Amino acid sequence: MNRRWVLVARPEGLPRATDFAWQEEAIPTPGPGEVLVRSIYLSLDPAMRGWMSHDTYIPAVELGAVMRGGAIGVVEASNHPGFAVGDQVQGMLGWQTHCVVDGRALLKLPELPVPLGARFGLLGHIGFTAYFGLLDIGAPKEGETLVVSAAAGAVGSLVGQIGKLKGCRVVGIAGSDSKCEWLTKDLGFDAAINYKTENLHKALKAHCPKGIDVYFENVGGKTLETVLNHMNLFGRIPVCGMISGYNNTEATPGPNNLFQLIVKRLKMQGFLVTDYMPRATEAVKDLVGWYGAGKLQYRLDITEGLENAPTAFLKLFDGSNQGKVVVQAGPEN
Ligand SMILES: NC(=O)c1ccc[n+]([C@@H]2O[C@H](COP(=O)([O-])OP(=O)(O)OC[C@H]3O[C@@H](n4cnc5c(N)ncnc54)[C@H](OP(=O)(O)O)[C@@H]3O)[C@@H](O)[C@H]2O)c1
Repeated sequence: MNRRWVLVARPEGLPRATDFAWQEEAIPTPGPGEVLVRSIYLSLDPAMRGWMSHDTYIPAVELGAVMRGGAIGVVEASNHPGFAVGDQVQGMLGWQTHCVVDGRALLKLPELPVPLGARFGLLGHIGFTAYFGLLDIGAPKEGETLVVSAAAGAVGSLVGQIGKLKGCRVVGIAGSDSKCEWLTKDLGFDAAINYKTENLHKALKAHCPKGIDVYFENVGGKTLETVLNHMNLFGRIPVCGMISGYNNTEATPGPNNLFQLIVKRLKMQGFLVTDYMPRATEAVKDLVGWYGAGKLQYRLDITEGLENAPTAFLKLFDGSNQGKVVVQAGPEN
């Protein structure tokens, strides 16, 4: 049977398990040019919150449709010449155990010296977001100070480590003491601030004595407002995400100090990882190289069983995830 989660309601505020419905159906048969894939790891991402409720950079998921999601899986049947049974592949397979997909929309995973889970924890949309967002837009220079929010998350933890590899002083902002300890003790961050228990303004003053040159933005809201006051002249702010507002039910006031952009001649630029896919090989070379040399770590937060996907998804919003959130929908072999 194909087991799957279908979107049945558009969330108001925080998503609820009842926004999804569990269904079982016979495993579909691939038609011409199509491939049947059994899912192994399903990636759960903050962007899905937007996909559930409104059109963003892609249309909202239709009510009654399988919830959209990127996954890694193995080919079980193929009517496409580019894929054979047993191939490991990646694509938008959705929140389901089996998916029939047009072979043209599927990527055959190239051989790389990394575990399968690294395709989400280190590479793919997570690794490329960290790599290009920081290096292309943040353009950090040796000796500069980099601050990253949601620093213990999938993207943030890579951003900080890449910043260290580029010779920066790196300060992370995260939501628990254990996350902060992981950043400084295991990942080599120079300092980490628990924004839930510390005064962010005072902590930034203490940990960024020369100000902030690059702020990698993952959360928005009050954090952005506070950080703006600590930016240096000609600082750069890659705007990756603004998760603190994803569940807002009303429009909230923006930062009251955007004038800082002018007086400090700051560059603040949003980006989508999809813009960088044509340059993926550049990122793969560096990320795999750093990982192989023991200079870059990633952490997966794995929930067993597709039936637990809605609960695992919510971890992204209460901060209880430790690393990249994935659901293991089936065995690797
Ligand atoms: N632009 C792109 O192409 C792109 C691609 C991928 C991801 N993103 C964005 O990158 C950001 C991180 O994504 P990720 O996949 O790596 O997720 P993640 O950081 O692994 O998980 C989300 C984290 O956000 C923090 N958070 C949740 N609600 C918050 C709030 N109200 N205020 C402050 N922090 C909050 C939590 O950490 P704490 O414990 O620290 O609160 C949580 O663990 C998201 O904003 C996402 O939308 C953008």
